[in-house]
Amino acid sequence: MRFEKLRDKALSETAKAKTQKRLEEIRVNYLGRKGEINKLLAEIPELPKEEDRKRTGARINEIKEEIEQALSAADRRIKDQLLAGIKDEEFDVTEPAKTVYAGSLHPLTKLREFVRDTFFKLGFEEINTPHIETDDYNFGLLNIPPNHPARDLWDTLYLEDGRLLRTHTSTVQVREMERREPPIRVMAFGRCFRYENVDPHHDHTFNQFDLLYVDRDVSMTHLKFLSDLFLKKVFGERTRTRFRPKYYPFVEPGVGVDALCPFCEGKGCRICGGEGWFEIAGAGLVHPQVLRNGGIDPEKYSGLAWGFGPERMLMVKLGIDDIRYFNGGDLRFLRQFS
Ligand code: PHE
Repeated sequence: MRFEKLRDKALSETAKAKTQKRLEEIRVNYLGRKGEINKLLAEIPELPKEEDRKRTGARINEIKEEIEQALSAADRRIKDQLLAGIKDEEFDVTEPAKTVYAGSLHPLTKLREFVRDTFFKLGFEEINTPHIETDDYNFGLLNIPPNHPARDLWDTLYLEDGRLLRTHTSTVQVREMERREPPIRVMAFGRCFRYENVDPHHDHTFNQFDLLYVDRDVSMTHLKFLSDLFLKKVFGERTRTRFRPKYYPFVEPGVGVDALCPFCEGKGCRICGGEGWFEIAGAGLVHPQVLRNGGIDPEKYSGLAWGFGPERMLMVKLGIDDIRYFNGGDLRFLRQFS
């Protein structure tokens, strides 16, 4: 009878157990080395009759097996309950893990690498020119003397010592002409600053790219070739390049370089505002006075200067409607281009 009581107690404890820790306690208590079952088994040799010893041993083993089965059934029950609890919280354990966003290059960085690569192959060397610039390199030597009305377009932030934050990368022009002999093939890509009313198309901090090529007999033909080549690379073979007369004090003649709208191919659409074209770059032949300012004889040499705003270009190419996204640091924006 002792056996049966022990069995009932073990089974009822197992049925009530709520945790796996409790099950383990029960297991140790009954089935462990010093547990109740082993204690009973140890008593068997003391039974006087062989027949009783056999019967008792067999019964104890049955009980042992029963308890083992009950424990493993209880273990399954507890695990199922745990999972069901998780399901109640709408946590789907079978859902694939979320992938981690590893980061990617900023679209401007990608464009910079592409531009650098393209013109490097054409023999241009990339120059890093300073963000903090003298009035001369930014304005004076580029034919924009103090009080010239063109300064309004390029108004910027001034330091107390008279230096300023460069308004364009055209500062590379006279800087490099002073240091080099023609043929000169240089490019500059980098941050520029302006005193702007910030709106979807104007930011106070943005990038520019400038190309300068000075050699004998450099002409508008070279300018057209370079514009065409580059715009086709950016917007595809079907694009076309258009020059419009445009005034920049440091070039003569000066042109605005337009690309055919990649969305409507010239028909006029919402994105190009019905124009059919986008103004992409400013360019021209280097003004003879600017060549002279850089120590180059305009009778012997001529040059071309060509520049564009990388943000503007990407806005057209990628259909981005606000320039402020580029500096906004919003990952939702950046992830689209990873
Ligand atoms: N630097 C000019 C600008 O800021 C662009 C330009 C570059 C124009 C080179 C002509 C030649 O608008």
